[in-house]
Amino acid sequence: MNPDQIPVHVAVIMDGNGRWAKSRGLPRIRGHQVGVERVEEIIQSAPALGIKYLTLYAFSKENWRRPKDEVSFLMELLGKYLDQKLEEMKRQNVVFNTIGHLDDLPAPIREKIVRNKQETRQNTGLVVTFAFSYSARVEITDACRVLAEKAAQGEIRPADITEATLARHLYTANLPDPDLLIRTSGEMRISNFLLWQISYTELYVTEKYWPDFTREELVKAIQSYQTRERRFGRTTASGQENA
Ligand code: IPE
Ligand code: IPE
Ligand code: MG
Repeated sequence: MNPDQIPVHVAVIMDGNGRWAKSRGLPRIRGHQVGVERVEEIIQSAPALGIKYLTLYAFSKENWRRPKDEVSFLMELLGKYLDQKLEEMKRQNVVFNTIGHLDDLPAPIREKIVRNKQETRQNTGLVVTFAFSYSARVEITDACRVLAEKAAQGEIRPADITEATLARHLYTANLPDPDLLIRTSGEMRISNFLLWQISYTELYVTEKYWPDFTREELVKAIQSYQTRERRFGRTTASGQENA
């Protein structure tokens, strides 16, 4: 791998837990359990690969429409994860961050999230952002509402609203845009994830189901990223044309 061309921010749509389980004749929830092991593995592997920000799509707004039993299981799994991994995150110098509507989550889970953020805020290493009850359209709508309120109060003038203003009002205000977006299990869609932020992100879709997405698979994704020419609308990646 080329150490000069590492994606600083990697975002992941962790998909395929159910299909992984089904292909083994196991209940869907088993796929979610093994999926958590891969979350740990990827968080552990990322810093040495040069990744500074990792953003993981764990639960979408739309996922609330799943059967009640599966949703309850996922919430229970999340609670356990937040309890069990706090010490490890502290040791790994990880900053625990979230995006999405935390108010939708059960109160005990919300409290654990607040605690884990608080207890890792002084860390200086990898920033891991979990998307919980996240919808990119809701995120953009929320930003618009806040801007409209500020305009109505006379705090900002509509004419002064720029792309940067909007970006500062997204949940991701403190994160750079992703360089690489990985989706596991082959689906060629974004499923309402980071719509604004991925305008120029490189996409990588693998057929591997999330419970099979090991460190080795992450390395493959980065290797693919390193073959890309990011042009941002110019004619070449290094183009010195008009800024
Ligand atoms: C991803 O796996 C996990 C969540 C969305 C919570 P899925 O549960 O979507 O698994 P598939 O896509 O049905 O295989
Ligand atoms: C996207 O996966 C959401 C997460 C990985 C959390 P889904 O399984 O919900 O996406 P669709 O429904 O296949 O688009
Ligand atoms: Mg899915």
